[in-house]
Amino acid sequence: MSDGLLHQAEWVRVETMIGLDQSAQSAQSQYFTPERAAELIAALPKLPMVDSVRVLDPGAGSGILTAAIVERICREQQVGQIEVVAVELDPNLLPALSKTAALCEEHGKHTGIHVRVKVVHGDVIALQTGLEAGLGDDFDLVIMNPPYKKLAAISWQRRALAAMGWDTGNLYAAFVALGVDSLRPGGQLVAITPRSFANGPYFEQFRKRLLCQVGFDRIHTFESRSTVFADTGVLQENIVFSATKGAKPGLVAITSSRDHMGELNERVIAYADLVSPDDPHQFIRITTNDTDDDAVRTIESLPCSLAGLDVEVSTGRVVDFRALPNLQGTPKPDSVPLIYPGNLRGGKVLWPRSIGKAQGFRLLDASDSKVLLPSGYYVLVRRFSAKEERRRIVAAVWDPTQHNGQPVAFENHLNVFHADGAGLDRELAWGLCAWLNSSVVDRYFRTFSGHTQVNATDLRSMNYPDENTLRQLGYGLDELPEQEDLDDLVGQMTLEPVTI
Ligand SMILES: C[S@@+](CC[C@H](N)C(=O)[O-])C[C@H]1O[C@@H](n2cnc3c(N)ncnc32)[C@H](O)[C@@H]1O
Repeated sequence: MSDGLLHQAEWVRVETMIGLDQSAQSAQSQYFTPERAAELIAALPKLPMVDSVRVLDPGAGSGILTAAIVERICREQQVGQIEVVAVELDPNLLPALSKTAALCEEHGKHTGIHVRVKVVHGDVIALQTGLEAGLGDDFDLVIMNPPYKKLAAISWQRRALAAMGWDTGNLYAAFVALGVDSLRPGGQLVAITPRSFANGPYFEQFRKRLLCQVGFDRIHTFESRSTVFADTGVLQENIVFSATKGAKPGLVAITSSRDHMGELNERVIAYADLVSPDDPHQFIRITTNDTDDDAVRTIESLPCSLAGLDVEVSTGRVVDFRALPNLQGTPKPDSVPLIYPGNLRGGKVLWPRSIGKAQGFRLLDASDSKVLLPSGYYVLVRRFSAKEERRRIVAAVWDPTQHNGQPVAFENHLNVFHADGAGLDRELAWGLCAWLNSSVVDRYFRTFSGHTQVNATDLRSMNYPDENTLRQLGYGLDELPEQEDLDDLVGQMTLEPVTI
């Protein structure tokens, strides 16, 4: 621990956190960056080769990121002046922010660099979308730990962002977007954010525009999701990245550490391996070791898309809170099976099962049959896995022969693999289930998804073995082998081509 500027700013942060009202803290997403994480974030950008450095810290909180970057610039570069604009919405935080600002200016005096920190009380969205007098678009560096909050579809923030060409439903992405807009060409953005923008349909528009405007220079991931903000209660999986406006780098550095205190592992990968130019969804894939690379190579060399297999995946059609009259705690003769994620166990669907959820779906009028699927083999994948779960993709087979061949209802927290609304053949269903449960798929999935959600788009975006291979994999299976045996089987059948 240093006794310098950053360490003093850490004291301001800790004092400020003690004074915060817990409910206001989570409502306004006031999770302040701990000292070591701030140091790691401020270490990421290349320092700009200019005499006067302009820095923006939007959503500055108690100002720890400002202190971290000022300390680094003063230590590493002979500049004449550092000018920081630190913006904060919450008036209660302004005294702490001003205190840190004064510490920064004082530090400048000791190091012979003119440091000026301008504290702005305001809303970053209003300021940087032109609703209020703006902060400018000529910053050399933007450093941020933005607030995380959903933005309502109909809100002034969404409209103001849309007018700037950005489409996003989360405040953190809005901050990143406006951070990019605040940079001069060649300026750098460094941010700690959730990893959720890296994949999935929700962030697709935002991701595509971001990738057009900046080139990623460096991405840092934490192996442990909870420890970075341990004293603030944040459980998100976060990444730190630095990106340059207008740059098209050929390479990108990926670093990882167990948490913000741990040792760094570093590797450099081709930019095309981070974002494939051929990927229509522009997923950002973060591979942190050779095993990840192998998984990506293996899966990307597979021959089939899901569509090529004539298989579709969609979310279960029963939204239970909208279908309360149809739900039956225990199935009755006039109901069909209703399947929740809790019914999935070891690759099979156990039904009925005591999971605290309705197990029967009763048809009350003709329109109710629209949510049913005809009897058949279906592969189900949970849309949300529990954080502590070992695997992200948990798949199981619905076997119609064990349930009198009746139609079935799948609840909306499941992804359902089907063939144009009907079942798959038995071997294909078990082959897909085995494949999806394999370690290579899980690893591959983790290279582009940092959250516990498994979207149908994610499953559609992956390559699959061909139909023949999947059938062979599924032949004779009616339960999943142990993981090691399953991985061996998958390795033999799908990764080494078989001829019959
Ligand atoms: C996650 S905290 C991070 C604070 C600080 N950057 C740090 O790293 O410790 C986000 C900060 O953004 C502020 N904030 C939230 N919405 C804002 C807005 N629309 N404009 C400016 N600041 C905002 C919150 O009050 C909070 O202090």
